[in-house]
Amino acid sequence: MKNILITGGAGFIGSHVVRLFVNKYPNYNIINLDALTYAGNLENLKDVDQSSNYKFEKVNILDADHLKTVFQEHQITDVIHLAAESHVDRSILSPLDFVYTNVIGTVNLLNTAKEFWKDDLSKHLFYHVSTDEVYGALGETGFFTETTAYSPNSPYSASKASSDHFVRAYAETYHLQTVISNCSNNYGPFHFPEKLIPLFINNIINKKPLPVYGDGLYTRDWLYVKDHAIAIDLVFHQGKVNDTYNIGGFNEWKNIDLVKLLCKLMDEKLGRNVGESEQLITYIKDRPGHDRRYAIDATKINTELGWKPSVTFEQGLEETIIWYLENKDWLEHVTSGAYKGYYDNMYSNR
Ligand code: NAD
Ligand code: TYD
Repeated sequence: MKNILITGGAGFIGSHVVRLFVNKYPNYNIINLDALTYAGNLENLKDVDQSSNYKFEKVNILDADHLKTVFQEHQITDVIHLAAESHVDRSILSPLDFVYTNVIGTVNLLNTAKEFWKDDLSKHLFYHVSTDEVYGALGETGFFTETTAYSPNSPYSASKASSDHFVRAYAETYHLQTVISNCSNNYGPFHFPEKLIPLFINNIINKKPLPVYGDGLYTRDWLYVKDHAIAIDLVFHQGKVNDTYNIGGFNEWKNIDLVKLLCKLMDEKLGRNVGESEQLITYIKDRPGHDRRYAIDATKINTELGWKPSVTFEQGLEETIIWYLENKDWLEHVTSGAYKGYYDNMYSNR
């Protein structure tokens, strides 16, 4: 019997992790703790929110007293920590928000867990979900492994790197049992349309310009979000304590090639003429400090835990496009209100 606190469960990846755990483990109680920022949306969990083993707590991880109450009320046994500010462009506009949530919020959570579990730390696990962006940028060749030195370049990746270091430090100093995973770029249903793939799907639907940064030759390693959730389940149950695992899609794409593929698939699905959506591609001013290439070496999780992606990129992208086309209400809800102000601020002068 476990009472697992999943933070950030109303966000993109968190909602897939909550759904997987609620459905797969009826004997666990899943407590989703989320502040419901612009990125958090309880609509993402409509299909599981009536389950008897699911509870939601609207809490900001900056609020240490509130965290303590939640640990006591639900007798939390383990944590899977995903709550974060997650968008690089926003971190460039407002770095302190990232320091507060990603660094101080994580330390608050570590303190709460350490204190609440102090009678027997060996029975509990603090799982910290992180990103490959902590390793910085690669050139044309090479991969990030678990021993690559941290070299973060954006305020987002610097804040995640800092939180990773605190998790390691709590394991060393206080003997908290921890595990960390660093994953590559995710895509899939419920992805907020500020990130490349959902933003471009939304713009293609609405025949709006597709803003490609710089020369478009930046490379990312894309993983279907449901495969990330499966990897988190494995690392949580079978990962070595105080160890770290890289998770990646073995799937590198230059942005411009990915955007062209997306345009082609969307034209087919929308019954548009061949090449129609590609006309929307617009090169705009580059992101400052833009990392050239990310690529994960996922050998360790593959050989130690037997994980590998279950779907090809073509399958995952097709499922994703179909989901967005069938869930236009969701897209409309999340792009109403504050989204328009963000979009104009980010893209109007570039
Ligand atoms: P997201 O932005 O979609 O969701 C973040 C969630 O955290 C939201 O529900 C938000 O309401 C919540 N949150 C934010 N600040 C909070 C606070 N102060 N207190 C409580 N809740 C708060 O992010 P995501 O893409 O689902 O990423 C989840 C985690 O995975 C993050 O830690 C991110 O760094 C990591 N990650 C993301 C990717 C990716 O490609 N998206 C890749 C690797 C790792
Ligand atoms: P993003 O989805 O923001 O993820 P990350 O920066 O965390 O990798 O961006 C993915 C890539 O797409 C990155 O190289 C930046 C680029 N990009 C654009 O070219 N245009 C856009 O409007 C956005 C949001 C991203």
